[in-house]
Amino acid sequence: MLHGKRILLIISGGIAAYKSLDLIRRLRERGTAVRCVLTDSATQFVTPLSVSALSEDRVYGDLFSLTDEAEIGHIQLSRDADLLVVAPATTNIMAKMAQGIGDDLATTVLLATDKDVLVAPSMNVRMWEHAATQTNIATLKSRGIWFAGPTEGAMACGEFGEGRMVEPLEVLAEIESYFTTSAPLAGRRAIVTSGPTLEAIDPVRYIANRSSGKQGHAIAAALAHMGAETILVTGPTNETAPAGVDVRHIESAREMYDVCVGALPADIAVCAAAVADWRPARQGDRKIKKEKGAAPPSIEMVENPDILRTLSSAGNQRPALVVGFAAETGDLIANATAKLMRKECDWIVANDVSADTGTFGGDTNTVHLITANGSEDWPVMRKNEVADRLAERIAGRFNQSTEAVG
Ligand code: CTP
Repeated sequence: MLHGKRILLIISGGIAAYKSLDLIRRLRERGTAVRCVLTDSATQFVTPLSVSALSEDRVYGDLFSLTDEAEIGHIQLSRDADLLVVAPATTNIMAKMAQGIGDDLATTVLLATDKDVLVAPSMNVRMWEHAATQTNIATLKSRGIWFAGPTEGAMACGEFGEGRMVEPLEVLAEIESYFTTSAPLAGRRAIVTSGPTLEAIDPVRYIANRSSGKQGHAIAAALAHMGAETILVTGPTNETAPAGVDVRHIESAREMYDVCVGALPADIAVCAAAVADWRPARQGDRKIKKEKGAAPPSIEMVENPDILRTLSSAGNQRPALVVGFAAETGDLIANATAKLMRKECDWIVANDVSADTGTFGGDTNTVHLITANGSEDWPVMRKNEVADRLAERIAGRFNQSTEAVG
């Protein structure tokens, strides 16, 4: 479960900091990459050298280090991780998190992150019970921060009570539970195509289609929400960029092809775009003018590259799961199944786009998931629900659950 995942571990200055050394060791044993940030006070409890030796990486700590900023930068530090873990989390760092204070590298990274955060609090029982701490904890919980502990026990200060950091194995169990429930696609890379393509006739005219991009954008959002590093390659749409998604805007099918191929390797590809099958053979750089008495111009068309087929047959760069869409107006299942074979993809999401279905441009979709094992009818759902269900199926496929699909 933790193999290949990337944790950014922030160690703040508490007596329980020694437990974070064991946590690093256990994460590394499970194949997890661990990069560490130490607060100034953490260095009073553990040395950067031991943290670096155990994590097998360099250790970060200085917000104003020119070398660190040039090498990776405080924004990138958290972008490169699948999850941020603060262990031990002192009352001080949690207060700063709750208030949005960024006065060192650790707190600045916590402010700048677009990733989820798990904290393992560690403090004296009176500090834990203090109204200020409890208010900060409520704030952090309301923002979706994950908590591991604290627990009750004897404290370094001689008192007994709640506030003790949980043992490294319990933090590990929380990290596992996070990845199972919230980010099953963390560490996976996905390419999603969406929207129409525009094929230029001349500098002012083009051929396009009615795709709204709603379904493709919703799929990119759902995959990113499940933790996948998601690249959305989209033609012009009115949709807003989904949070946490790397959006690449293109116009023509050939541009979409170049960006998709350039984005390989990936684990997942979902081709939801309505790619124009053909483009005008010539795209003049001058506007075609009406000639008095002349017949209307005829436009010779040539075929566009097939992005789905290219990704499906990309050899050792082929994504482990390639999903295509089939927009049909008749013989839906038969046509979509034939398309699955022809395009050599793994799954096809088939939908009826006949005019009376309102699918093109609408908010709902009635789809059938076609796999090597047959077809599954899904009920009419909103496009974001279709996206969530598809993302769940994709996550199931990657986490080797008992999926019935091929
Ligand atoms: N597709 C693609 N590149 C193309 C054409 C289509 O990636 N040049 C993808 C679409 O994104 C979709 C799937 O292929 O996932 C099916 O596209 P569709 O246009 O419905 O099928 P066609 O292959 O064009 O077949 P037909 O026109 O006969 O239905």
